[in-house]
Amino acid sequence: MMTAAKQPSGTWIPGPILGIETSCDETAASVLAADGAVLSNIIMSQHDVHRRFGGVVPELASRAHIESIEEVSSAALQQAGLVWTELTGIAVTQGPGLAGALLVGVNYAKALAYALNIPFAGVSHLEGHIASAWLQDPTFPLPCVVLVVSGGHTHLYFKEPSGHCRLLGATRDDAAGEAFDKGAQLLGLEYPGGPAIDRLARQGNPHTIMFPRSYLKNGSLDFSFSGLKTALLYKLQAMDEQLSAAQAADMAAGYQEAIVDILVKKSFAAVRASGARALAVVGGVSANSRLRALLQQRAISENLQLSLPPLAYCTDNAAMIAAAGRQALRAGLHAPLTIDAQASMASSFAQTI
Ligand code: KG4
Ligand code: ZN
Repeated sequence: MMTAAKQPSGTWIPGPILGIETSCDETAASVLAADGAVLSNIIMSQHDVHRRFGGVVPELASRAHIESIEEVSSAALQQAGLVWTELTGIAVTQGPGLAGALLVGVNYAKALAYALNIPFAGVSHLEGHIASAWLQDPTFPLPCVVLVVSGGHTHLYFKEPSGHCRLLGATRDDAAGEAFDKGAQLLGLEYPGGPAIDRLARQGNPHTIMFPRSYLKNGSLDFSFSGLKTALLYKLQAMDEQLSAAQAADMAAGYQEAIVDILVKKSFAAVRASGARALAVVGGVSANSRLRALLQQRAISENLQLSLPPLAYCTDNAAMIAAAGRQALRAGLHAPLTIDAQASMASSFAQTI
């Protein structure tokens, strides 16, 4: 078995680390400094490649990652003002994600770690999103509740002072991002649907067209969004004529409000139930302007600390992967270069911040 050779004992002296992310439709690379500061964060989005198909086409995603990975990684290094040999570690998203897309990043990262003879970490994309809450403020307190809301996840965790995450609730059907994307498709908006609904909803009234909220049984911290999507479909089918621009905006605003309302209520219910005094909200949907506004208002009124990462750290990026990889390397979790991409990787949540 081949292991990273510079510190075979598993000890790692923190230095610049390169993170690489290719799990879906963003090719991203980022360099963190020895103290964890973000020196560069390069994201090459493939939205233009997938837009005309209305969603991510896995084969096209893999090809686009292959075409961009070298350029994106070099740009991250250059922006950080470093040369390859100054890197002391490599972190890459090992899973979950699209198998072919993950393979590009994992193999590129392994080759780099081998050539540079430096330690290597394969990290979970989900742990990366969670780590993004501490990128800007490493002193954000624990314990806290973490809501991960992305295209694939709607998960509420309690993050203990040790850094261990305990699952409090999760979606039983669609993820919040999926609800945005599918709703956008029904409304005839372009991919990716979340930002499109966010933009359109700003021109609408969220209370003109009401959508049902599914809270599940009393006290449940699970989520369900599939009924909401069906409600939108029925409302659209019941329209006699084509939606006017104003009606479309009201529809988007009402639909968004239902998703956001549930996310906010369940997050604050989790905070109350857990006794934590801090909440972190991460993942692509945390870029939503209405969600951010409501979370900020409520955090102020309840006197809670809130971590809402800057937009560049909400949607997929490699700074969060480098941060999770940095934690892994510091904990001595150096991966062998024999690891493979894991499309349905589960999280260990053993790492500490
Ligand atoms: O974290 P992310 O980039 O990728 C995954 O790990 O899934 O999240 C992507 C999801 C997509 O569903 C996208 O529509 C949603 O995040 N999203 C948004 C916004 N920006 C991205 N949803 C609502 N409002 C936004 N502004
Ligand atoms: Zn993501």
